[in-house]
Amino acid sequence: MAAHISEAAEKLTLTETVHVDELAGSDDTGNGSAASPLKTVLKALETKGENIKVVVKKDAEGYKDVSGAALKKAKKTLVEQQRKLKKQEEQKQKQDEELKKKAEEEAKALERAKAIVLTQDSSLPKAEKIKIRQGVASRGKRVKVSGWVHRLRVQGRDMMFVILRDGSGYLQCVLTGQLCHNYDAITLTTESTITVYGVINALPEGKKAPDNHELVVDYWELVGKAPDGEEAFNSKVTSDADPSYLLDNRHLVLRGETSSAVFKARAEVIKAFRAHYESRGYTEVTPPCMVQTQVEGGSTLFEFNYYGENAYLTQSSQLYLETCLPSLGDVFCLAESYRAEKSHTRRHLSEYSHLEAEMAFLSFEDLLDNIEDLVCDVIDRIMAHEPTRQLIEQLNPGFQPPARPFLRMDYGDAIKYLKENDIKKEDGSYYQYGEDIPEAPERLMTDKINRPILLTRFPADIKAFYMQKCSDDRSVTESVDVLMPNVGEIVGGSMRMNDMAELLEAYKKEGIDPSPYYWYTDQRKYGTSPHGGYGLGVERFLAWLLNRYTVRDCSLYPRFTGRCTP
Ligand code: 4AD
Repeated sequence: MAAHISEAAEKLTLTETVHVDELAGSDDTGNGSAASPLKTVLKALETKGENIKVVVKKDAEGYKDVSGAALKKAKKTLVEQQRKLKKQEEQKQKQDEELKKKAEEEAKALERAKAIVLTQDSSLPKAEKIKIRQGVASRGKRVKVSGWVHRLRVQGRDMMFVILRDGSGYLQCVLTGQLCHNYDAITLTTESTITVYGVINALPEGKKAPDNHELVVDYWELVGKAPDGEEAFNSKVTSDADPSYLLDNRHLVLRGETSSAVFKARAEVIKAFRAHYESRGYTEVTPPCMVQTQVEGGSTLFEFNYYGENAYLTQSSQLYLETCLPSLGDVFCLAESYRAEKSHTRRHLSEYSHLEAEMAFLSFEDLLDNIEDLVCDVIDRIMAHEPTRQLIEQLNPGFQPPARPFLRMDYGDAIKYLKENDIKKEDGSYYQYGEDIPEAPERLMTDKINRPILLTRFPADIKAFYMQKCSDDRSVTESVDVLMPNVGEIVGGSMRMNDMAELLEAYKKEGIDPSPYYWYTDQRKYGTSPHGGYGLGVERFLAWLLNRYTVRDCSLYPRFTGRCTP
């Protein structure tokens, strides 16, 4: 009996008193002592077990024994919590097991797939190697096509659709049965390269694929696998990515449907320019890019060290074209021009493709007609070429060739137009006669007029030194800018000074040392002639025609302030 009493007493002394202060306690940092109370009875039971004495402080009155009801409620909640936790643990275990099973099955499937070796059926006719563009003409024959996996769609276990791209077009390929069970098939990724063999069949009405046909594959081979996961092409190149990230990955962006349409159209436009000049009797020349003379002002020159001498990347081939007139007659060139432009606008590049032409024995009116003829004839040519017309429709739906004649407007009238239409400078004042019309107001005006404008007769003081002055007003020049809606200036041209004394005076006024220009000046010495020409920015022309937001989208690897890579 005595032993029994002392055992009970010992149990009593072992019972810990746990402090719960509902106002100042903390379940996170408290330990249940009077100095560091917990906040809830539930936490007391959860951390100390049920064999405790709980005292609770609800107000300034101090600690009191927990009420029976509060203790009961806390115990019930604790049981419920523990039940939920157990259930969650069981679920997680089940999921883990399922994932493990799936991974094992996948690993086994991969092993099984590795064992599948595809072989060509030797009884089939020998496949003829073709490019995708030859698909329509090759229907019904067994062909072999190589390219990049542009898109991939797996349909069930036994069917895979691949849109193959080879740069000449897109081809839907359908793979069935064993062809989609081997290791390469089940691990195939977009942008991997493959060679497919089979027969191209027209698709029945209602089914859609490029060129309305598909290649039914009978054998295929992997050439090079592109990465999966984080490195996968589709996770790297996304349309919502940062523009600068996309420019760093320009080499991958170029594979996209929009980009490739732009560069296909660009190639056709360049062909059309050449065809235009050919049909009008011009000769193409290739002037140098490394020069020691400026054309369009010193501030945009890229200078470099040329065997110890100062040299520049050319701003324009105009001066060289002028020297070709006596031997070749009307000439043109398509060369890169370089401008160290500080401006970060959507129509300025540091390197751009410059199409320039020069003609002798013509009047300013002839020059304007020639420029209008160039733009309209080139548009007619590309619209008459069905594949290019389709590219333009894809990129610039509803495009309509501009109507002739273009609006002809004097610079002076443009200044008046800006004022009448309330187009102001940033400081709220109006543009004054004699001032350069910058990009923004020029575009506002062009967009409002909404048709091509030949803007003429700019003041001599804001134009290049070589421009011919108008005979009826020596303060303005026989100069022209072609302005297009959405882009603004796409062409700049003029008649050139043909009087030697006047040219020498112009060098002086501009502060240019005439000695390196002796060969240019000589054109006036050895049989001068009235002559003129123009330069067209190919990327600006394309931005207008293909409705691109910026000229950067029309340049393969655009260079502008701060970017000379990749
Ligand atoms: O008006 P610009 O500076 O004229 C000349 O260079 C003349 N020497 C051409 C000539 O008469 N042979 O340039 C002509 C055209 C502009 O209308 C514009 O389309 C384009 O070249 N251009 C640019 N394109 C992209 N980025 C730039 N930084 C450009 N600067 C001029």
